[in-house]
Amino acid sequence: MVTGPQGLPILKPPYSELVALDMNRGEHLWRIPVGGASDFIRNHPALKGLKLDFDRMGQYDIRPGLVLTKELIFMGESGSLPGQTGGPMLRAYDKRDGAVLWQEAMPALVTGAPRTYIHPGRQYGVPTVSQNGPPAEMIALSLDGTSESGAPPAAGVAVQAAPVTKTAAAASVPVSAEELALGGQVFGRLCAACHGATGQGGVGPSLTGRTDLANVALIIAEGQGQMPPLSAALAPKEIDAVAKYVVRSLRASPSRAPSPGPAMPPPEG
Ligand code: HEC
Repeated sequence: MVTGPQGLPILKPPYSELVALDMNRGEHLWRIPVGGASDFIRNHPALKGLKLDFDRMGQYDIRPGLVLTKELIFMGESGSLPGQTGGPMLRAYDKRDGAVLWQEAMPALVTGAPRTYIHPGRQYGVPTVSQNGPPAEMIALSLDGTSESGAPPAAGVAVQAAPVTKTAAAASVPVSAEELALGGQVFGRLCAACHGATGQGGVGPSLTGRTDLANVALIIAEGQGQMPPLSAALAPKEIDAVAKYVVRSLRASPSRAPSPGPAMPPPEG
């Protein structure tokens, strides 16, 4: 990090960000600053009175390691050598949108990547913390919030509701009756010949039970393998509508798979 006058960073914030890339599309999915500004920056007299968003500035010159689980990213605010830059916070981020779901200040900077393991049937997260002077330590945190070495927190630990399943998320993709009707029309006209009238499959594979709306829309527009690209044949609005129709209306159970047509009502739930 290049420092400028008075020891302040010379570059514009944010000084650090956690960035998620969509590897299928080559796009940034979300990005979030890693913590707020250090106290040195926050309290610097030269910055007094400027309308700066210190809470979303990100710590600077940090090298955190992270651990990924199915739904979460655990990452500290530092990773730097003891006594250097970064803060003591350890956080859990939601992989889907980068939201901070949990954070807790560690007794010192988190140096090195946290680990996670299960011993017998109970899950732990283990960051390493260190500071100048005392020896480095490993701290085992239990995910159920109970501790063998101290009283549980007075207010108890708030348990997050389980994340929405992909199927439930797909079933609640917002779609209007007009869009579904248009999607059903396009499906009957263009897709049914290869994928079957109810999406059960034919020349092309079955399209029932899909939950990946964006991916379905991309395949319709750009094609895939032996499936022709249809971006020239369909307006963007039609691609959007037929993709929503596939995700919302073509379900695995035959009793719930409606036949395509302009008079299609929106499915319940
Ligand atoms: C000419 C035949 C044909 C037409 C028309 C066609 N498809 Fe396909 N589609 C295929 C084939 C074949 C595949 C398998 C492609 C591959 O991966 O090689 C496929 C794959 C797909 C996939 C990906 C399936 C998977 O599991 O990867 C989706 C989604 C899809 N089609 C949707 C549609 C929709 C919606 C339409 C109408 C707008 C449509 N297709 C029109 C033949 C067709």
